[in-house]
Amino acid sequence: MNKIGDELIRWYRENKRDLPWRRVHDPYEIWISEVVLQQTRVTQGITYYHNFLKKFPNIFTLAEAETEEVYKIWQGLGYYSRARNLHQAAKFIVEKYAGSFPDEYAKLLEIKGVGHYIAAAIASIAFAQPYPAIDGNAYRLFTRLFGIELKLGSSALKKEVLRIVSGIIPQKSPGDFNQAVMDFASIVCTPKSPDCINCPLSGYCFALSNNRQTDFPVKPLKRKPKDRFINYYLFSDGKKLLIRKRKSGDIWENLYDFPNTESSNAEQPRFYDLVSENHPCGYTVKFVSEIIRHQLTHQTLFVTFSEIGCNILPKIEDFHAESLKHLGNLPWPRLITRYLEKRDKEQSTANY
Ligand code: ADE
Repeated sequence: MNKIGDELIRWYRENKRDLPWRRVHDPYEIWISEVVLQQTRVTQGITYYHNFLKKFPNIFTLAEAETEEVYKIWQGLGYYSRARNLHQAAKFIVEKYAGSFPDEYAKLLEIKGVGHYIAAAIASIAFAQPYPAIDGNAYRLFTRLFGIELKLGSSALKKEVLRIVSGIIPQKSPGDFNQAVMDFASIVCTPKSPDCINCPLSGYCFALSNNRQTDFPVKPLKRKPKDRFINYYLFSDGKKLLIRKRKSGDIWENLYDFPNTESSNAEQPRFYDLVSENHPCGYTVKFVSEIIRHQLTHQTLFVTFSEIGCNILPKIEDFHAESLKHLGNLPWPRLITRYLEKRDKEQSTANY
């Protein structure tokens, strides 16, 4: 008898969240839902999931899309490499498997962007195979239940939790089991104040019986995010703006941004570092924003935006002129979209 697995499945049948990807078993839709949910919480994920499937209802439409269209739908989720991987993976599945998802775990792992967690989610939910999908929520639940003191992120912890959960996951309904773990950990076994009073696993829990719930999972020491100071310059002649597509090797690969200067300490904007003083552009600084703080996973950005009016757009290497009307069609980092939207709103109110 597997009491923990049975209790989890029983709890899930009574309490599961009604989520759109739980009404389907199509591996394509399961895959999209899992990649979206790697990136955001369930509430926001639902909107992205629907938008994505509306635009790319099947693997063929995704494979045939332009990369920029995929980025556009992904906009706001961050980690654009995930959107690029989805697109490349769709092409791969169409070419190699004529568009049908492979149902073997090892073959799922060969797909770009599909790691153990997503391969297990697809194998269990779409193909009813007993592979444990272990994400951050599952690590919290199982380290508490079994009192595992190994550090989060360590290969020792991964191995140990995989070993334990492989012994618990049922052969029947493994997809329900994996999703039970996700819901149970986010509703009952929560990070800060788990609902141990109503927990059907309370009789089995090491952390509860030792009153050590918040000691698990053991977190590694955090590295301090790096600070970056970036001053952006929106050079515009009233019709066009200078922009570029960012290259690889830094944050925001393949997204667009503006000419900028960067330093390791806060600095006044200095657009004249970028342009030749003799150029007959007739620059006017129309606006300089406050410093905006923007948190990325490993970096804290401190950013300003300066709006520079000019008669003729200057030439700056890597940057090209783009019509103001088309800016909304391009994928931008969220920080810049927010700024552009705020600016649009202020300008339209100012015109009344
Ligand atoms: N988080 C990741 N995958 C999920 C799923 N299938 N249901 C709910 N939350 C999730």
